[in-house]
Amino acid sequence: MVATLGRRSRRGRALTLRRGGGAGVLTRGHATIMSPQTIACFPNRPSSCGLLRQTKRLVSFTSPLLGHEESMADPFTLGVASGEPLPDGVMLWTRLAADPLSADPSRPGGMAPRAVEVSWQLAEDENFTRGLRQGVTEAQPAWAHSVHVRVAGLKPGTDYYYRFRASGAQSPVGRTRTADDPASTRPVRFALANCQRYEHGFYTAYRHLADERPDVVFHVGDYIYESRQAPSVARPLGTLPGEANTLAEYRLRYARYKSDPDLRAAHAAAPWVPTWDDHEVADNYRGTGDGSAAFQRRRAAAYQAYFENQPIRVRPRGGGLQMFRRRTYGTVADFLVLDVRQHRGAGTMLGAAQEEWLISRLVTGRVRWRVLVQPLFFARRFVPGPAPNLRTDSWDGHQEQRARILAAGAPGLVVLSGDVHNAWAGELKADFLDPGSATVGVEFVASAISSRPPATDGPAVLAANPHLRFFDGHRGYLSGTAGPDELRVAFRAIDHVDRPGAPVTTVAEFRTVGEGLTSENATSK
Ligand SMILES: [Fe+2]
Repeated sequence: MVATLGRRSRRGRALTLRRGGGAGVLTRGHATIMSPQTIACFPNRPSSCGLLRQTKRLVSFTSPLLGHEESMADPFTLGVASGEPLPDGVMLWTRLAADPLSADPSRPGGMAPRAVEVSWQLAEDENFTRGLRQGVTEAQPAWAHSVHVRVAGLKPGTDYYYRFRASGAQSPVGRTRTADDPASTRPVRFALANCQRYEHGFYTAYRHLADERPDVVFHVGDYIYESRQAPSVARPLGTLPGEANTLAEYRLRYARYKSDPDLRAAHAAAPWVPTWDDHEVADNYRGTGDGSAAFQRRRAAAYQAYFENQPIRVRPRGGGLQMFRRRTYGTVADFLVLDVRQHRGAGTMLGAAQEEWLISRLVTGRVRWRVLVQPLFFARRFVPGPAPNLRTDSWDGHQEQRARILAAGAPGLVVLSGDVHNAWAGELKADFLDPGSATVGVEFVASAISSRPPATDGPAVLAANPHLRFFDGHRGYLSGTAGPDELRVAFRAIDHVDRPGAPVTTVAEFRTVGEGLTSENATSK
């Protein structure tokens, strides 16, 4: 079969691909490929997911669930979300905010400091007639009137629709989906997003991601930026443009970010499994920072605001929040979601407990793909030019721990990452300094949703790192499918974020096949 793909050859010449006895020519004007039998590029074409309908707003609940409701301005301005899909359940989320950008710290979201009853419904159809479940909970002022509903007893691999009602108002309808049955071999369709600095641009990429309605969306950090407003902006932060430090300021930053309708659409379109990077708290922070009480207070406030604004299962406790976890889809994929910030210390990116957990998950079970979902560039990335040539905040600053992970011998190892605001793909090597060493996995680095990239000489970095095979400088996200026989990843890209409405294109699509990803020929680019 012929495999053409993506955008352009790195060296502007035709490339030959061999896979399973077939042969193909990668035509001029297309993207860099991965090595034969490891990753092959596929025709530049719209996502195999196709364009599906967006979630529709629906009519009000057919009958009020509450006897008494005090009316207020629409409290569902921050949208709805779902997350943490299991084979039998999901989390449902909303946060009431009648005046989301209210700067009064005693009334986050413009809400009076008292509990509000919130009713919820979930069903298998958009008309809420099949398999209807419902309940009532309380939105507490101590948690900024956020609502985290655990729904259990659901069918695996099934779409559901949900909505909330509070104070006489009804929420938009969200679509969610449970994880597949543990014995399932069904391919899972996932998306990966990260880095969405509000002032840097519009979240158009999220509109396209929402249209794809993947089974699950992973977010690998920089959901907010705590930073002072950027000097030049595509759109201003508005209220409180200074650096966020307090709980009220972090809450307000989330409210500003969620004012973007495309972000709300992405949450309403699919369940999310998020993890964080640094900007949810402070730039490049590690663990307990400088150890001061002031930083502990700041981190605890940031973690609380994160929980309040994400559809996650676990609440913060004692100033920490249990973040690393796995989400499994049948026998196809074990998504191992990492926390590269909270437990970081001298010589360790993950901390001992998380590393032990990760290594054990990498070598147990019979799942086809073991997918690390985490923010930071994992492969070695030597940047030619003046020192420093390696970025110490990333995995190049934790080479021993990275080597232990790669030495675990995980079958079907895939790393999904972000952070650098450009798109990359590459191979993971047993020894990054020896191009002839075994290929032990693959990495796909998602570009940013909106954050501006640093000046990057992509071709020079590719030339200096033989295991890196693809670079693209657009904003965008990853759209992938993990199946029993192959893992396919499309780089979805938009060409502007300074104004809404950019169309999306697939700049490259890669396919990973074979047992253990061991490449017998890692030399072709
Ligand atoms: Fe970022």
